Amino acid sequence: MQSIGVGLIGTGYMGKCHALAWNGVKPVFGDGPRPRLVHLAEIDADLAARRAAEFGFERATANWRDVVADPEVEVVSITTPNALHAEMALAALAAGKHVWCEKPMAVTLADAERMAAAARAAGRVAALGYNYIQNPLIRHIGALLAAGTIGVVNHVRFEMDEDFMADPEAPFSWKSDAASGYGAPDDFGVHPLSLIAVLFGGVARVMAQLAKPYADRPLAGGGRRAVATFDSACVLMELRNGATGIMALNRAAWGRKGRLAFQIFGSGGTIAYDQERMNEFQLFTASGDPAEQGFRTVLTGPVHPPYERFIPAPGHGLGFNDLKLIECHELLNAVAGRPARIIDFAAGLGIERAVHAIVRSHREASWFDV
Ligand SMILES: NC(=O)c1ccc[n+]([C@@H]2O[C@H](COP(=O)([O-])OP(=O)(O)OC[C@H]3O[C@@H](n4cnc5c(N)ncnc54)[C@H](O)[C@@H]3O)[C@@H](O)[C@H]2O)c1
Repeated sequence: MQSIGVGLIGTGYMGKCHALAWNGVKPVFGDGPRPRLVHLAEIDADLAARRAAEFGFERATANWRDVVADPEVEVVSITTPNALHAEMALAALAAGKHVWCEKPMAVTLADAERMAAAARAAGRVAALGYNYIQNPLIRHIGALLAAGTIGVVNHVRFEMDEDFMADPEAPFSWKSDAASGYGAPDDFGVHPLSLIAVLFGGVARVMAQLAKPYADRPLAGGGRRAVATFDSACVLMELRNGATGIMALNRAAWGRKGRLAFQIFGSGGTIAYDQERMNEFQLFTASGDPAEQGFRTVLTGPVHPPYERFIPAPGHGLGFNDLKLIECHELLNAVAGRPARIIDFAAGLGIERAVHAIVRSHREASWFDV
């Protein structure tokens, strides 16, 4: 396969991130087909045409179904608000396209189940936007856990905090609308859950408390609208490997910009990581002279694949958009039938089940199996 035809639906924050990945994946990795940026959709024709010119797409439309129906499009990036993922992914799979859909997979569990079934029936690659699992250091931490470097893991703590909802006067957006889902559990929780899935095989049961720090938000045209989603969550977890865990989520955490932090405690050591400092992790091993024990900081470098594809020198650092580019390459590996590190719709359904168990647990004030 010399080239692969790409469609893109939505050109906001994530749409640009996907476009950068499609544009960069061949120069960075060298292998695989060259993406041909064929057709892009936005909500109005002018914006679509402007973005197509900026991102390098050949055609633009204000009707996303044109992208799905385009015979030259082989894979569709879906980067629209959550409420649209299911309809768009189902249509793309029905048209025989591979799909790269942003998280969360869907708003309802029934839709997520339909998407997983459709991907299975279509025999196409259907990958989700769980970019944080692509950090070379997360891969390395997975290898350390598998090698028993910190012994048997018995407890984990995950936190995800940002402050884009911290201002009580921030305008009402789709993220506060019930149509987007639950808020903290699916907007944020799915990211730590994706890391838990690749590092520990997932969550077995949960007990959760969700909260809305602000009852309403101002509307652009005046007046205020009640906030339907939860901005924070506290979740007790039992992981599939038997370890206990805590997950704390907050979209209204002043000062936190992109914190996705965890500590993994084992019988022989501890690993700590924070996405705000995504080019390093901390490792403590309970070995050697206790008088000289302590956490050491490991910086990312060419010894942590696929860092070397971007930069030959260690310690210079990758960025958030690079994780999406690595995800794009893994998607292309899957399309080519090669082993691929992606969370596909089948695996993503497990994450959705955890999200819905968290919400049920909150509503019924009880532990729930995932
Ligand atoms: N993987 C990540 O780290 C990550 C980060 C942020 C957002 N996301 C996810 O990406 C998705 C989009 O979020 P965002 O922050 O990019 O939102 P955004 O508002 O910046 O962009 C969404 C875009 O979709 C367009 N759009 C809406 N309806 C459309 C339609 N019917 N046809 C074509 N285009 C349409 C909007 O005009 C907008 O440009 C969400 O599901 C979100 O959860 C993922």
